[in-house]
Amino acid sequence: MSVIELKPSANGLKGEIKVPGDKSISHRAVIFSSLAQGISNITNFLTGEDCMRTVEAFKQMGVRIEQHGDQLTVHGKGIDQLVEPVAPINFGNSGTTARLMSGILAGLPLFTTAYGDASLSKRPMDRVVLPLREMGAKIEGRDSARLLPLAFSGQPLKGRTHKLSVRSAQVKSALLLAGMLADGQTTVIELGKTRDHTEKLLPQFGVDISVDGSSISIEGGQQLTAADLDVPGDISSAAFFIVAAALTPNSDVTIKGVGLNETRNGIVTAMEMMGAEIHSKVRKYVGDEPVGDVHVKTSKLKGITLEGELIPNIIDEIPILALAATQADGATHIKDAEELRVKETDRIAAVTENLKQLGADVEAREDGMIIRGGSTLQGGTVNSFGDHRIGMMGAIASLIAEESVTIQDKDCINISYPTFFDDLNALQKKKNFID
Ligand code: S3P
Repeated sequence: MSVIELKPSANGLKGEIKVPGDKSISHRAVIFSSLAQGISNITNFLTGEDCMRTVEAFKQMGVRIEQHGDQLTVHGKGIDQLVEPVAPINFGNSGTTARLMSGILAGLPLFTTAYGDASLSKRPMDRVVLPLREMGAKIEGRDSARLLPLAFSGQPLKGRTHKLSVRSAQVKSALLLAGMLADGQTTVIELGKTRDHTEKLLPQFGVDISVDGSSISIEGGQQLTAADLDVPGDISSAAFFIVAAALTPNSDVTIKGVGLNETRNGIVTAMEMMGAEIHSKVRKYVGDEPVGDVHVKTSKLKGITLEGELIPNIIDEIPILALAATQADGATHIKDAEELRVKETDRIAAVTENLKQLGADVEAREDGMIIRGGSTLQGGTVNSFGDHRIGMMGAIASLIAEESVTIQDKDCINISYPTFFDDLNALQKKKNFID
């Protein structure tokens, strides 16, 4: 197993970084350009393992996709020209690939099978399979198609209205994509606002989609046309350095070119609520997506309550916010976050176990955590459980720990942030790895 031992930060974090492209937008960019007619150029594409699974899936369906570093050229021939893959599609660790591709595979006239790694094979797929079946999809799989592997006998779908019972952008997007292939209109009514990249990006590919509060509608039978896209930096990756700078003495960090979509910038709001010295500024728009800079300095934090509508906005940032809470004055309550139980690992259990191991005072709740702040973190071992965001949380904890921290299975960080350790190094005057 890949491990890395990290020493506490000697001089704080200083300087500017540009984090890799947004994971959610990168997935959607490949999906939409592969379904489109014409050549799409995607720059600042996230080449992490998850997004490459989506690339591989479309290559298996006959789409020519060229990659040069973080640039992709997608030679789309349109939905009708996709071919049946001869081998099962491997979704790897990627929930976004699994859910969004399910919406598409259900509605294409192809037979496909798909599987995932050990973690993804435990994650619920019935949240997309059941509503897709209501549109006429034929999907079979393990445990009554609750789990991967799944088999799709794609066929014409009928548009319908779905009222979601989970707050999930993946489920919303899967149903909208199925709706785009279906006959008639599909409407998705959300339980609470989730990331809206599908709604913002589809119009760039020539697709009509209408948003009315929590209700999103799409007409079936639309064709996509190629578009060029410069993917904004991933705020979920930036979140690790936002918290790192706030917690580490003598720090002053600017993250440039990061996506500041209002369904994703809750990390900035949460850190402001905790009293952090943080400022974000939108500098331009890429299509409808706001992009800008975030500036953070060493801060004195206070405990807060994170709950309700803010939770979907910070769902991927809760592990690193929990680390921030260990250093705050007072207790932080995280509520309404039961979705964390079905992420790459059970993140409530993984965060609680690892932070306690380092000496923090954390109590797991069914839907969140209570973190009593003001703890001194000791050194020790962090088990990433193969979850990229738990691995990065452990690496940031090492900066403020008394002794070195060892991260087990550090390679899982490549799933969303292949250059994480380079950026961590760049912000420190002295390298803090023990080779
Ligand atoms: C994502 C949605 C979220 C998020 C994931 C990416 C997306 O998942 O946690 O990292 O790109 O739509 P859920 O839809 O399961 O909340």
